[in-house]
Amino acid sequence: MELNKIYNEDCLHGMKRIPDASIDLIVTDPPYFLGLTHNGQKGSFIDLAISRPFFDALFQEYKRVLKPDACVFFFCDWRGYAFYYPIFDAILGASNLLVWDKISAPGSKYSYSHELLIFHAPASVNKGGSSIFRVPGFSSGAKKVEGEKVHPTQKPLALIRQLVEAHSEVGDTVLDTFMGSGTTAIACMELQRNFVGYELDIKNFKIAQKRVFNM
Ligand SMILES: C[S@@+](CC[C@H](N)C(=O)[O-])C[C@H]1O[C@@H](n2cnc3c(N)ncnc32)[C@H](O)[C@@H]1O
Repeated sequence: MELNKIYNEDCLHGMKRIPDASIDLIVTDPPYFLGLTHNGQKGSFIDLAISRPFFDALFQEYKRVLKPDACVFFFCDWRGYAFYYPIFDAILGASNLLVWDKISAPGSKYSYSHELLIFHAPASVNKGGSSIFRVPGFSSGAKKVEGEKVHPTQKPLALIRQLVEAHSEVGDTVLDTFMGSGTTAIACMELQRNFVGYELDIKNFKIAQKRVFNM
């Protein structure tokens, strides 16, 4: 496996090439399935049962590749959390639920102005500070998120940078199994961390290649 590369493949398949206990941090943002509609019907929570074997296997792979003192940040929203939490906790151990406060967002039953991060930290990690993250100047409808917005669910670079900077050192290796437009890769390059990433969708992969490597 080469470092500082995004692979255009299913992360479960690609991760098999990552050596045991070689990753210093995982920061990842999986697809948020539950908002999907099918023939005009909204997806229901139970539909997610079909994804359970995937996430069981994914978290087992995370466990295998993580170094003993490594942390995991796993993004989800209020609907996905109930699905992910028991699987994540059973395999990796959940240490906290963190909140990204987007400050403002649309919504008619209160706004959807936050996203969640399931956090795993081993016993050796002792971190004070707030469990709520904010990105000054971020607005959820913005066309720019520190550079052009090129992916519908692109995370602000400043948010990912905060997580990478706080939980890894220069020269460490960060894994993002759902790279999207490559935000984690950019944060790693800026902070002199190595990265490994996977992006299954060819269109998103090309977007990331252009954004990260100018290819
Ligand atoms: C929520 S987006 C990530 C956005 C990213 N944080 C950013 O800032 O651009 C999730 C991405 O995971 C990709 N994906 C879905 N299933 C995958 C899989 N099995 N392996 C790798 N990538 C996958 C999707 O194509 C999508 O681009």
